[in-house]
Amino acid sequence: MTLRMGIVGLGFMGKMHFDVYGRMKNARVVAICDDDARKRRGDWSSIAGNIGGAGGRQDLSGVRACSRLDQLLSDDDVDVVDITLPTNLHAEAALAALKAGKHVFCEKPLARTSGQCRKVAAAARRARRRVFVGHCMRFWPGYIEARKMVKSGLYGKVLSAAFNRFSCTPTWSYRNWLQDPVKSGLCALDLHIHDADFVLYLFGKPKSVTSRGSGFSKGRLDHIVTSYEYRDNMLVTAEAGWEYPAAFPFSMSFRIMMEKATLDYGADGLLLYPPKGKPKKVKTATRDGYESELRHFVDCVEKNRASTVVTPASATQSVMLIEAETASALSGRTVKPRL
Ligand SMILES: NC(=O)c1ccc[n+]([C@@H]2O[C@H](COP(=O)([O-])OP(=O)(O)OC[C@H]3O[C@@H](n4cnc5c(N)ncnc54)[C@H](O)[C@@H]3O)[C@@H](O)[C@H]2O)c1
Repeated sequence: MTLRMGIVGLGFMGKMHFDVYGRMKNARVVAICDDDARKRRGDWSSIAGNIGGAGGRQDLSGVRACSRLDQLLSDDDVDVVDITLPTNLHAEAALAALKAGKHVFCEKPLARTSGQCRKVAAAARRARRRVFVGHCMRFWPGYIEARKMVKSGLYGKVLSAAFNRFSCTPTWSYRNWLQDPVKSGLCALDLHIHDADFVLYLFGKPKSVTSRGSGFSKGRLDHIVTSYEYRDNMLVTAEAGWEYPAAFPFSMSFRIMMEKATLDYGADGLLLYPPKGKPKKVKTATRDGYESELRHFVDCVEKNRASTVVTPASATQSVMLIEAETASALSGRTVKPRL
């Protein structure tokens, strides 16, 4: 069986998904939807982001190009709607797709607010359709290997964990939506959510969060640092910032210190430091998290089962956690998220 995909929003992530489906045997893009006429004609040269190159020219023969979502939704050939629109448009598109009887793959975050996330999750239950959310760190080599090691307990309890993610200022998005707080939720909801979601996946719900932030203007979060409160004084922090100069390279990294070993992830991959002696390089999968994630979602739809890795409920919790962190950073107080 080949799953027929309709991608909505052909920007940085839409192109990434398009390319991944092109490498899969059991999925095929049959339709795209974008309000940019050049992109519908296959001129993807304007596409840019903080990782990967621009789009160039794309051969769209055999792919129906729509300017409006309702055109794509009325297409019986589309099994799954893959939403890679700006974040503020996720909920409305997901609700419409579920109403039209389609399964949904949605880029992270599931929606701009946790209230909208809950509406989408409820609509999926009512429509008996699946919703998958692109929390790609749950599929990222290095991150999943580290999680396996922590969960195995082989190296004892975690004493501390620190996650980092930095980028230059995002200037490349459609009508600059990334820099509009109402549309993107800025650095916290767009960039830092990757680590917040992984913290939830690795350690479960924190008792409280204490965040501090800074921004280009007052009340604007372009940089956030959070301390998550867990049992036994385990120290868990995450920091993300996207106000760096244009030449500043994107980076993501973490360090997890356990009783009997320390894990360090960065540009060189995943290293395991034993208490004595040299670090060892940990072997990880070569396939990136985007591809593993989309292959997993396609597999779930084919087998008619829910994902055990990322669910509408977990994606809702991630947005709730970011809301708690944002409230903490803006108020200066510690906040207990009701996850
Ligand atoms: N998982 C990741 O690592 C990752 C990385 C980047 C972005 N994202 C997420 O992916 C989503 C998209 O981000 P992006 O960077 O690709 O954005 P982008 O600005 O590059 O692309 C958005 C696209 O949507 C189109 N569009 C906008 N409004 C439309 C409408 N009403 N109808 C049809 N098309 C419309 C634009 O023309 C553009 O092509 C966001 O939710 C973002 O958070 C995830």
